[in-house]
Amino acid sequence: MQRPVAQIDGLGIAVPDRVVTNADFEKTLDTTDQWIVERTGIRERRIAAPGEMLTPLAVAASERAMAQAGVTAADLDVIIVATVSGDRRMPSQACDLQAALGAANAAAFDLGAACSGFVYGVSVAEGMIATGQGRTILVVGAERLSTITDFEDRSTAILFGDGAGAAILRPSDGRRGILSMFLKSDGRLAPLLHIPGGGNLEPPSEQMIRDRRQFMKMAGREVFKAAVLAMAEATDEAIRRAGISPDDIDLLVPHQANVRIIEATAKHAEIPMSKVMVSVDRYGNTSSASIPLAIDQAVAEGRIRRDSLVLLVAFGAGFTWGSMVVRW
Ligand code: ACO
Repeated sequence: MQRPVAQIDGLGIAVPDRVVTNADFEKTLDTTDQWIVERTGIRERRIAAPGEMLTPLAVAASERAMAQAGVTAADLDVIIVATVSGDRRMPSQACDLQAALGAANAAAFDLGAACSGFVYGVSVAEGMIATGQGRTILVVGAERLSTITDFEDRSTAILFGDGAGAAILRPSDGRRGILSMFLKSDGRLAPLLHIPGGGNLEPPSEQMIRDRRQFMKMAGREVFKAAVLAMAEATDEAIRRAGISPDDIDLLVPHQANVRIIEATAKHAEIPMSKVMVSVDRYGNTSSASIPLAIDQAVAEGRIRRDSLVLLVAFGAGFTWGSMVVRW
């Protein structure tokens, strides 16, 4: 087993108060609670209230992570925010977070890897710690996906939720920390899950808005198939690179998009569902926030403890995917 360079010292989350249940969608869309639960495993999700921005959620999650790690804003060397739904296009969400935290000594930048963003962010932080560019790094996965979700499209509206999760990365004590890392992408598959309008390809226009092209478009069945293949590769690679066997894993924490994708991933990895974290029922798919939200719940339920061997696996738009084995 490799000697880890960086470890996760603190973790915090924050979600909007507003709960939207499947029954709520039954009132506005041609859908049923039964269909949503059977096809996705989702029962409810948190949706930000009008005017409720992402920055305060990211701040609340970050402050919890910092308190747990025993660090202050002044200690932060780097802030990395993984998001596809920041409060504005420029400057970065990370700079808004840096200002709100008063992290006077930190570099700050956003990272765009969609639902794989948290795993990608931790990987970048690990590299920066390894090369001495920082000793205390805040990695945040934060999304207000409700801004980019088309609530008139039943095939996507029911899937997504808002939330934020934050982690403090610091140099490893030599035993705990990240034991392996795997990242990959395939941009040829971008049209299967993308936002067509609002950028250079289709600049904002009245027609674009009328056609609802500012929202996420997804070919669900194709995304599903690609996700299962990618998550299988990612679990294999993280386990192989850590030099362990699937039996050694105490808990698999996959990206929470759909319980059927999670079950397929566990089956491929030969990890029983009793060792798999599922929180998609409570939060839906929160993209880059989904893995920290699931970890937070696992810790609260006593399913991740000090020294647990945890496998994180993510997949998202891009497509991007990645994984890591962490000694907690
Ligand atoms: N309620 C009722 N019926 C629906 C709904 C709904 N909310 N949505 C779609 N349907 C219908 C479809 O119209 C279709 O009807 P038809 O047969 O008459 O055409 C039928 O249900 C089956 O549709 P499919 O799309 O084939 O359903 P599927 O079983 O594939 O489930 C789902 C759809 C849940 C979207 C699934 O494909 C999925 O989870 N895909 C992956 C999504 C995902 O993980 N995305 C994010 C990954 S990356 C990231 O996290 C950003």
